[in-house]
Amino acid sequence: MMRTVTCGELNAAHLDKPATIAGWVDTRRDHGSLIFIDLRDRWGLTQVVFSAEKDKAMHAKAETLRPEMVIQVQGAVARRPKGTENSKIPTGEIEVQASVLEILNTCPTPPFEIGDKVVNEELRLTYRFLDLRRRDMVESLTARYKISKTARDYLDRNGFIEVETPYLTRSTPEGARDFLVPSRLNQGTFYALPQSPQLFKQLLMVAGYDRYFQLARCFRDEDLRSDRQPEHTQIDLEMSFVDENDVMGLVEGLVTEVIEKIKGKKIQTPLRRMPYAEAMNRYGSDKPDLRFGMELHDLSPVFEGCGFKIFNEVIQSGGRIRGLAFTPPAGVEFSRKNFDDLTEWLKNYGAKGLAWMKIKGAEEVDSPIGKFFDKERLGRVIAAAGAKPGDILFMVASDSAVSAVALGALRCKLAADYKLINEEAIELFWVVDFPLFEWNPDEKRFQALHHPFTAPKNEDLSKLESNPGEVSAKAYDLVLNGTEIGGGSIRIHDAATQQQVFNVLQITPEEAQNKFGFLLKALSFGAPPHGGLAIGLDRLTALLLKRESIRDVIAFPKTQKGSCLMTEAPSGVDARQLKELGIQIKT
Ligand code: AMO
Repeated sequence: MMRTVTCGELNAAHLDKPATIAGWVDTRRDHGSLIFIDLRDRWGLTQVVFSAEKDKAMHAKAETLRPEMVIQVQGAVARRPKGTENSKIPTGEIEVQASVLEILNTCPTPPFEIGDKVVNEELRLTYRFLDLRRRDMVESLTARYKISKTARDYLDRNGFIEVETPYLTRSTPEGARDFLVPSRLNQGTFYALPQSPQLFKQLLMVAGYDRYFQLARCFRDEDLRSDRQPEHTQIDLEMSFVDENDVMGLVEGLVTEVIEKIKGKKIQTPLRRMPYAEAMNRYGSDKPDLRFGMELHDLSPVFEGCGFKIFNEVIQSGGRIRGLAFTPPAGVEFSRKNFDDLTEWLKNYGAKGLAWMKIKGAEEVDSPIGKFFDKERLGRVIAAAGAKPGDILFMVASDSAVSAVALGALRCKLAADYKLINEEAIELFWVVDFPLFEWNPDEKRFQALHHPFTAPKNEDLSKLESNPGEVSAKAYDLVLNGTEIGGGSIRIHDAATQQQVFNVLQITPEEAQNKFGFLLKALSFGAPPHGGLAIGLDRLTALLLKRESIRDVIAFPKTQKGSCLMTEAPSGVDARQLKELGIQIKT
């Protein structure tokens, strides 16, 4: 071994003992005849002192040390002189008084200081091997490991086994675009990288491998955001002979154990379950952030028959006027420009306009549309919105979904912009009772809200043909602080119901046979009732560590454009490789 201890380990218990440590030069401070080095490794920092009095040649060598050089030091552990201790680090009481210095490798001036937090992300990703030396990255990856280890241990304890499923496979339907891999041996054909192990874990249930799990990499070619990567990791699980309560109960145990390990906080179970319709109506989101209030209110009944044409038309055409009351923090005054900017921003959510009223009294408002309503109606509007003098009442009139989603987005924006979120809170709960299908107005057809293998609720089976829009799913999403960290369902386990669902989705029997023939076949060979769920490991880790982006909890992530700045992937390939694959690039 090149060291006897790590740089995070030494303390007063080691005083006067010899130690050999190795690592990277973090900082060097020259104090004449004494040179101080903070030596760093994954475990921490240790102060090393090189004294000219003790060894002139060694001191001269220490003068050549620069940040990020790799060294090995032998010396004795000594107490730091009084007043120079550093209580912020575990090794802060001691220092190593060097007697031997070995330079193991040099390093050019790094493009950024390793301790420096404010570095542009492009540079960090280009030099990720240096960025990963930073303390917060070490903490991120260590916590991520702890989370997966806790999950593995928990699942092992509960009778699960980990089974790997293929990466080179056929398209799996999670609703994103596939990444394709051309086949050399079967030219003109492609593998698809799995969007999730969904079909394989169902096949494992058919095969009798009840209680499967996998820390599975999933590949989705979709537009990237701070909580989306082209490849992400799921804690994926599936169980047989279970209903929704069994799966949800097991997952609650897992996630609360993880939170307790990482945050030291005990979460009460069973977790709350919020029906999808309630989430949409009260928060305008299927993953509401419950760390702050500002609930949405349906004001349509109180505006019915009012003198404002736009509102009336929306109500008559079956739409909704929804509102939320916002209490501006002390000293914040909303100007015309603020309202215009928010109106413009809301267009991203399909809202054509944003109405607002500054509440002045129980029946009094300051608003461009105030003149359309008499006092009595204003009083009812203000009461229905739960607004009080000083508040701003924001309203969106549109079809039911747009008015909810747009106002829900505004709710989150106001909370973030005006710092109304309780950052210490952990709001973990289920959203349940999802519709099985959602209507796609562009394609004029239903699509699966989760995926096409989700089972309908038994009581809605008869509506599959007559009224698919009204069918509820045996599906459940786990939400943490406004982010969906997991989703799953009980699956269809008989081929006939699966075929009925394909019919609603306008997947023809031929198409179904072509794409999922193997699944349909397997379901006909004695499939047990089964269900499962997958947790997004990257999202869960980022949320628990309060990282802004999942990129900060992934060792080698991709940029928003899907590229790796360090390896420069994706990249062009040799003409020879393309020839072997029978592929020609069109320019
Ligand atoms: P779903 O598509 O909901 O379900 O994915 C499960 C969880 O994975 C996370 N996630 C992502 N994380 C980072 N980047 C992405 N691009 C990304 N996409 C999803 C989310 C999400 O809740 N097969 C089903 C699970 C099942 O039904 O058992 C599935 O994949 O946290």
